[in-house]
Amino acid sequence: MTPGGGMAPAARYDACTQMRGRALHIIVTGGAGFIGTHLTRRLLDEGHRVTVIDNEFNSSRVSVPEGARFHSGDVRRPEDLEPIFAEGCDAVCHLAGQVSIIRAFENPVGDLRTNVEGTVNVVEMCLKHRVSRLIYASSMTAYGDTPIVPTPETECCRPDSYYGITKFAAERFVHATAARPDLDFAFDVTSFRMFSVFGPGQAWDNPYQGVLGIFLGRIQRGEPITIFGDGEQTRDFVFVDDIVDAWVGALDNAQATAGKVFNLGSGRSHSINELAAKVIAAHGLPEGGYDLRHAPGRPGEQRRVQADIRFARDTFGWEPRRSFEDGLALTMQWAGGNRGSDGPAARP
Ligand SMILES: NC(=O)c1ccc[n+]([C@@H]2O[C@H](COP(=O)([O-])OP(=O)(O)OC[C@H]3O[C@@H](n4cnc5c(N)ncnc54)[C@H](O)[C@@H]3O)[C@@H](O)[C@H]2O)c1
Repeated sequence: MTPGGGMAPAARYDACTQMRGRALHIIVTGGAGFIGTHLTRRLLDEGHRVTVIDNEFNSSRVSVPEGARFHSGDVRRPEDLEPIFAEGCDAVCHLAGQVSIIRAFENPVGDLRTNVEGTVNVVEMCLKHRVSRLIYASSMTAYGDTPIVPTPETECCRPDSYYGITKFAAERFVHATAARPDLDFAFDVTSFRMFSVFGPGQAWDNPYQGVLGIFLGRIQRGEPITIFGDGEQTRDFVFVDDIVDAWVGALDNAQATAGKVFNLGSGRSHSINELAAKVIAAHGLPEGGYDLRHAPGRPGEQRRVQADIRFARDTFGWEPRRSFEDGLALTMQWAGGNRGSDGPAARP
């Protein structure tokens, strides 16, 4: 067994799945979103052909990098996926998802359908069309409130949030399928349990998304910042370019990463109080000079979050390169340069 419980299908490994150095056709589901646009751009830069499938639930096709093909489609609807998969592709990067912990509590069935049924549909398409490579966007919320911090991939998953449950269920579906002994082709899957991803292009006008983007947006609009609970809960913030490095690294290292689950975090943590202080300071505002409010804690909150990132480093040499401070500066630079009346004009 590998960390995360997946079986490494080394015995079924097919040398043809090695992707390094080849121009590929890659489907990126959720490719109009925050992480998906960054990944798409990098894949295009590396000479690959990219088809984005997205239903624009949390994004817009205008964000899709030039050079990628956009296909309006919903992962909950196999008939939307079929025409693109039928064309054939070398790899699927599956990022389409409902990404909000709060929205999942408000609409559990909606979350289940997008995150689990949508992933099942993507996996079924891979089987039907013999796609040999799938990388899945899993989440650190799979761990739930664990006392083991920094948390390695071998830690048991007991998600507390509905969102964490659906992300983990989908992850297990992906890996259990790849390990099926009755498959007649090598289906190499990798999951990334991503921690709190931040960077240019992150929504900062969307209360359902990333805390850093929410804080940035509020300061830029001169609105008070609300901290839920005592603010001493910690998060591991990882810069989006580092995340993209890992996805591309896994495509380049199919053999080493197949069947495995990796944490993608910075390996460091900040409390939400610290985060607020850093974002306020980065705007040149005096400490204590900003309207900070506290509200009761929210359901599904993990108390201490910090990734143990040794497994990715040891397996395929991935290492986050940006410090939190550098990443924040780049994010603010982007936000300043793209500000419209309601938020950033476009993803970078
Ligand atoms: N951002 C993070 O910190 C983080 C951390 C862990 C995991 N993830 C996962 O990474 C993935 C990408 O997250 P993101 O931060 O870029 O969020 P995002 O909301 O910007 O991107 C998700 C994309 O999926 C699309 N989408 C939603 N439902 C869809 C559907 N039914 N069919 C097709 N497309 C659909 C959205 O329109 C959006 O473009 C998600 O699966 C998320 O769960 C994100």
